[in-house]
Amino acid sequence: MARDQVEQAEPADARPLYPPTVEPPSEVLPLSRFLPTFVRNPLRTLPVAVYEEPCLVVERKGRHNAWVTDPAMVERILLHEHEDFAKTPLERRIFEPTIGHGILTAEGPAWRWQRRTAAPLFRHQDLLGHVPAMTAAAGRQVERWRAALPGSLARVDHAMTDVTYEIITRSILAGTVPAEDVLIKREAHRMLAWISWEVGFGIVGIPEWVWHPGKWPSRRAAKALRGTVHQLLARRRAEREGAKDLLGRLLAARDPETGQPMADEQLVDNLLTFLLAGHETTAKALTWSLYLLARAPHWQERIRREVVEVCGARPVEQRHLGSLPITTRVLKEALRLYPPAPIMSRMTAREVMLGGHKLPKGALIIIPVFAVHRHRRLWTDPDRFDPDRFLPEAEANHVRTQFMPFGFGPRTCIGMAFAMIEATVLLASFVRAARFEWDGRHLPEPVSRVTLQPKGGMPLRVTVLGNG
Ligand code: HEM
Repeated sequence: MARDQVEQAEPADARPLYPPTVEPPSEVLPLSRFLPTFVRNPLRTLPVAVYEEPCLVVERKGRHNAWVTDPAMVERILLHEHEDFAKTPLERRIFEPTIGHGILTAEGPAWRWQRRTAAPLFRHQDLLGHVPAMTAAAGRQVERWRAALPGSLARVDHAMTDVTYEIITRSILAGTVPAEDVLIKREAHRMLAWISWEVGFGIVGIPEWVWHPGKWPSRRAAKALRGTVHQLLARRRAEREGAKDLLGRLLAARDPETGQPMADEQLVDNLLTFLLAGHETTAKALTWSLYLLARAPHWQERIRREVVEVCGARPVEQRHLGSLPITTRVLKEALRLYPPAPIMSRMTAREVMLGGHKLPKGALIIIPVFAVHRHRRLWTDPDRFDPDRFLPEAEANHVRTQFMPFGFGPRTCIGMAFAMIEATVLLASFVRAARFEWDGRHLPEPVSRVTLQPKGGMPLRVTVLGNG
């Protein structure tokens, strides 16, 4: 405790850090401005009231959209009355070409079966067995940085995608080959780059058959992704049926209602869901964490000291994870300011009363996690970087769902523990091994493309230290 108190003191010259955010419009945007703004960055369409009020409802041509940020209402939607707030047709419209009817988009018994099949892979104790694969991947990344031109700017966002992808394909889902890895990362990036067109059209009610510039690039990307995972599936079937990883479990599963195994299309749906959801989000958590640490060097130094004190020069091990409170606090603050999944949505399955508004069946509910995490009524000085918000005594005063980077209720992220272990191991390993510096200019706007991307990427100066 005493050590922590001494370490909490910020250097006198450390100015409060207000990292880049999005300037909200003062009013709800008219339809003519909504769509072009949404395509550029969906977060720019969240009016200021979303950051100040518990709930904002807009009706346009008989279509209701509700932005909900109040923790009690969020709990009602995601937990207590989750059956009245279904996954949206919008979400299916966006994701179905790529991940079909897998665990992320399915509902009811079809979802429950897939969730139960995958759940045993995510038991906390078993996940800890992946820590050596995580530290090994971190070590290989440090070597790549060491080999780069000293003093040059490194694309940290690309590096984080490479490392987290490597980890997911060497832990819960083995068996890809290098050419497939290149294709999957490239096409996943392409798909997300165009996705706001389909989402924006869906929100304003333009039918799915209407053409837009994102139509073909995202369809081509979806086709390439599915084709590649079909190949992987065929190879794995031939090679090693009975393996204990995700594919092994999916192959062995039987539908409790029909007794049938999963069809190939459904296997591909789930493999792709885990491949994509299982690396891109964690990559973004780390990208933004390293940016914040480059902007707040005294926090970077505190993490470095903590890791050296706890782990010495040895790789981070599972027994160390509970003894890295500063690293964990910074990670949580990065997840608050830059939630990797910044917007969630649901649809009313029947008429409901919400925040004094009567919403008909089929109303779109948007939970902008980005705004919940910066809500004026929930956080003091919400745009300021301050990891001490997550000191245990401060955290004890948070209401549930005021901090919800992994969602909430039965559809909470199945990979939450995996992601937290992975992000802690990687952040601790990287900061001990290298110094991350800001170029003094780059102020990346956070842009929502399903995941939260830094506009212009994340170039940082990375200097590998002697103890790396
Ligand atoms: C920092 C990293 C991550 C974040 C912020 C994140 C966030 C989320 C969120 C918010 C949801 C809920 C969506 C909703 O209710 O509409 C979700 C669901 C999901 N996530 Fe993650 N996730 C992360 C990492 C992972 C990892 C590592 C995996 C797999 C290894 C994963 C797999 C999934 C799956 C399969 C679902 C769907 C669960 C269901 O509907 O039952 N995620 N994630």
